[in-house]
Amino acid sequence: MTDSATQFEWVPKASVIAREAGARLREFLAQGVETEYKGDVDLVTVADRTVEKLIRARLGEVFPEHGIYGEEGTRDRLDQEYRWYVDPLDGTTNFAHGIPHFCVSMGLEHRPSTLQPDADGTIVAAVIYNPMLDELFTAERGRGASLNGKPMHVSPIRDLAESLVATGFPSRKRHDNPNVHFYHEFTLRSHGVRRAGSAALDLAYVACGRFEAFWEFNLNPWDTAAGFLLVEESGGRISDFAGGPFRLHSREVLASNGRVHDELVQLFGEMFAGRNLTPIPSPREFAERRAARGQGLKAES
Ligand code: IPD
Ligand code: CA
Ligand code: CA
Repeated sequence: MTDSATQFEWVPKASVIAREAGARLREFLAQGVETEYKGDVDLVTVADRTVEKLIRARLGEVFPEHGIYGEEGTRDRLDQEYRWYVDPLDGTTNFAHGIPHFCVSMGLEHRPSTLQPDADGTIVAAVIYNPMLDELFTAERGRGASLNGKPMHVSPIRDLAESLVATGFPSRKRHDNPNVHFYHEFTLRSHGVRRAGSAALDLAYVACGRFEAFWEFNLNPWDTAAGFLLVEESGGRISDFAGGPFRLHSREVLASNGRVHDELVQLFGEMFAGRNLTPIPSPREFAERRAARGQGLKAES
């Protein structure tokens, strides 16, 4: 077991690594990189791979006894009591298109030796760094969360109708994903839904009060581990869509400021039961109505 003196070094040391990694991402963005495809629209660049290598090397130097589980394939020392989940570049699609909204995400899980291999441990430290805004989001379990060293808290808003919320869409099995229905429904019931392209930053934004809530289907532990702790330590709540405990591998994440959480869980339940779905006109119906008003093109028969 790591003693508590060591514990308080996790975030400062990981922050130095995240800042170095972020600086590399900024350089890669400035120089421009080629995009490759991992899948249909699942993009990867030399920046993702190079920065994961950098983080792997640095974590190995600073925490030689910790495991590392990285998006780009790192699987080091996974039998250890502590494990870092690393996304070297969350927001690759933004990055590949020159959009300066992406981050480095690192979450540390404590896995006591008695834990079953498929059970979640406890996330104990988190660092998310946005190199383009120089924003460093950090948290330690039981000690609160900070943005650039200042304590941060979730927003005080109590109703979905006054909330700005966020979501994302997976880059794999896109045809099989129902999220557009939720996107539509939440758009009608809130100030709007942002699809900003970085799940880790979406969670960090819930934690610092910019978004009231965020949900997504099919994320991976490297996307959520750090943001999970940021949300909890900022006073928010994170669960599955039914309000049950959030699991790193559960592939459902619903995070909020806590105050709107029950309303969101209820809406998810209603929608999964096929209720509360506001009809949306098909493009054809829309074109026909417009044509009937003498506007726009008539739908072809
Ligand atoms: C993606 C981003 C995006 C989310 C996708 C993720 P990546 O991560 O977090 O916002 O909608 O589901 O895969 O590929 O940029 O690391
Ligand atoms: Ca990611
Ligand atoms: Ca990534």
